[in-house]
Amino acid sequence: MNNFKRILVTGGYGFIGSAVIRKLLRSTDAKIFNLDKFGSVSDDQSIHEILNSDTKYKERYSYFKVDLVDFSLLNSVFHQINPDLVLHLAAESHVDRSIDNPLQFLNSNIIGTYNLIEVFRNYFNKNKSHNLKLLHISTDEVFGSLGKVGEFNELTAYDPRSPYSASKACSDHLVRAWRHTYNLPFIITNCSNNFGPWQFPEKLIPLTIQKIINGNKIPIYGNGLQIRDWLYVEDHVNALLLVSDKGVSGEDYCIGGKSEKTNIEVIKNISSIINSILPKNHCLENLINYVPDRPGHDTRYAINFKKINEALGWEPKYNFDNALEITIKWYIDNQEWCKKVLNKANYKSQRLGLIN
Ligand SMILES: NC(=O)c1ccc[n+]([C@@H]2O[C@H](COP(=O)([O-])OP(=O)(O)OC[C@H]3O[C@@H](n4cnc5c(N)ncnc54)[C@H](O)[C@@H]3O)[C@@H](O)[C@H]2O)c1
Repeated sequence: MNNFKRILVTGGYGFIGSAVIRKLLRSTDAKIFNLDKFGSVSDDQSIHEILNSDTKYKERYSYFKVDLVDFSLLNSVFHQINPDLVLHLAAESHVDRSIDNPLQFLNSNIIGTYNLIEVFRNYFNKNKSHNLKLLHISTDEVFGSLGKVGEFNELTAYDPRSPYSASKACSDHLVRAWRHTYNLPFIITNCSNNFGPWQFPEKLIPLTIQKIINGNKIPIYGNGLQIRDWLYVEDHVNALLLVSDKGVSGEDYCIGGKSEKTNIEVIKNISSIINSILPKNHCLENLINYVPDRPGHDTRYAINFKKINEALGWEPKYNFDNALEITIKWYIDNQEWCKKVLNKANYKSQRLGLIN
């Protein structure tokens, strides 16, 4: 990563973006620029903790409050930052919220990405002698839903089935078309479900942890047998840094955990780890609450990460159970943070994304 001196991270106050920034501050000497609109689920505490731990981090970090939808502000901030690497993570990211408010997803994920790559195109044409790169960070959800067998890879046809995945698929297509037409140094990564500390407590793993700790009912969508391929966030961050450093512009890379679990299995795992940690045991059967399925819920995702493994030597380092235990302990120790971010977002753990 020492090739890069000025790294722009979009979405750096989100779950994965903040993990990327923490890692970049610790493992490089580059100047790090965080561009984020600071949306309802964003938080700055994890970045502030690391900045306060050492003045050398503070000197290398700047934050710009920008909504990617605002082209002229983005354009002027981008040229001020003058980056040699862009890691584009900013997006609206929760499927249930996309069912309730699709337009917000089209604006941020499609128009926001279009604005960024247009600004980049202009900037690239003025800085052709520099070694520039942009990574567009996307999801495996763009590939649709698998049956019992098979895995997604870089050649899988797109088949998005939710407003979220459709908006991400569209942004992937824009990035691919711009790099082909304008010959821009873009790389796309498609990753499976992430989990770990600092994730806003509305997605399956942190939501379930919160529900169990507080003795509340855990909503299980449909039959709970939907399968996701889980990856610890640090493994995703390591993959992104490796692709930034050694990945080939013009290529796509699929990133996954080889850790397929049904939702109900994940919930049972969380329950048994919490019972092994906390003095007062809960009975999972009493907390499980089957609720109507998510509209259009995808059945199974699985990633084949052979390409990034063979080309760049990446593979997940964390085992699912160990990483889940680290995550659970973090949430148990950080209940104040959970309350703070839930209050800020005015989210009371209510069900989102029901059409009737
Ligand atoms: N979480 C996952 O499991 C997962 C898996 C694969 C890929 N991804 C992708 O990784 C990226 C980050 O995901 P996350 O889980 O950290 O999401 P997140 O929702 O926690 O964070 C996204 C951040 O982007 C910012 N943002 C959104 N729209 C913006 C806009 N218009 N302008 C500026 N900032 C904006 C938000 O304020 C937020 O801080 C997303 O692009 C997502 O599609 C996520």
